[in-house]
Amino acid sequence: MHSPQYFIGLLSGTSIDGVDCVLADFAHARPRLVATHSEPIPTSLRNDILSLCADKGLSLVQLGETDVAMGRVFARAVIHLLEKCSLQPGSILAIGSHGQTVKHHPTGEHAFTLQVGDPNTISELTGITTIADFRRKDMAAGGQGAPLAPLFHQSYFLDSGVRRAVLNIGGIANITLLKHDEHTALSGFDNGPGNVLMDSWINLKQGLPYDAGGQWAESGQVQPELLARLLDEPYFARPFPKSTGRELFNLDWLQSRLAEFDGFSDADVQATLLELTARSIVQSLDWAARGIQEVAVCGGGAHNDALLHRLSQLLPGIRVFSSAELGLAPDWVEGMAFAWMANKTWNGESIDSSSVTGARGPRILGGIYLAESGNRPPH
Ligand SMILES: Nc1ncnc2c1ncn2[C@@H]1O[C@H](COP(=O)(O)OP(=O)(O)O)[C@@H](O)[C@H]1O
Ligand SMILES: [Mg+2]
Repeated sequence: MHSPQYFIGLLSGTSIDGVDCVLADFAHARPRLVATHSEPIPTSLRNDILSLCADKGLSLVQLGETDVAMGRVFARAVIHLLEKCSLQPGSILAIGSHGQTVKHHPTGEHAFTLQVGDPNTISELTGITTIADFRRKDMAAGGQGAPLAPLFHQSYFLDSGVRRAVLNIGGIANITLLKHDEHTALSGFDNGPGNVLMDSWINLKQGLPYDAGGQWAESGQVQPELLARLLDEPYFARPFPKSTGRELFNLDWLQSRLAEFDGFSDADVQATLLELTARSIVQSLDWAARGIQEVAVCGGGAHNDALLHRLSQLLPGIRVFSSAELGLAPDWVEGMAFAWMANKTWNGESIDSSSVTGARGPRILGGIYLAESGNRPPH
């Protein structure tokens, strides 16, 4: 009987729908999800994050304050998770915190990525050593800094008996092609919009956070000219490695294109946005030529039944299903990924993201923020 090796994964994604917090045990070869908690993000803080993402006139003071405020929300998520499972901070080896991205700028001479959610604040308020800032090391090593989840997908979802891809439909959709044998390589890339445009549109038109089950989209008609115009986006045709975010796919992007047309109902636009997400995923690679037999879907978009149905139609012969079937519910896959990364860093193990992000080679990702009374890495 091994004693547990508890790590916590903390994340708030592009959707800014809440903080995902998972407790995972790494005592065995396959990590085990032990407990989960979703911490709400106060509306005013969410609005500040959205303003930062849109780069619309927030000051450096507001950036600094949002960094600390978000760090406090992350800490609260951990404290609530520990309360739920009656665990003391001392029983957790470390937290792996992704932070909240406010700017992802992977191109140009001084490419950078910026996440808020101060890890000093997290380690101080929780008493748990916190590992954070995973993406910037990858970028410093010449990578895109994203996506990183494919490395975890490879370790968790590989099945030697079947060719499997993993599709994460968060705000942005990213695809992982698992390395199946010596003839294949792990690859992964941000494909484009997942839920972000559908969320933004229903929020604008109906004040709702998302289109539950894709039902509103199903009530409209896909508009082929609008769809063609949206698919015209050069990002879709770019070869990978590539990564993207709200910087590109946002309400302004949609509205500037919508302005070229008139006469579509709001529901037709939603239907077309769902079709855009599905088509852009399907067109991103030749699934059949790669021999993909299964697509395991994770992220909140796995709950969008209309979207999953459409993906299944567009990928004949390929089984499209929720990652829950493989023992990990879609909402917690990304949180698990950051607990997994913290475990790697804790043990001084590097991660080879080179085939995914374009980094020059394996690197130990993340910075370690020791808590005064917290556990210390073995190295
Ligand atoms: N029942 C549902 N029906 C349709 N979409 C859903 C449902 N539940 C969650 N979602 C979508 O999932 C999103 C959150 O997914 P998530 O994986 O947390 O994304 P991110 O990583 O960007 O935060 C929500 O904003 C929403 O669009
Ligand atoms: Mg989320």
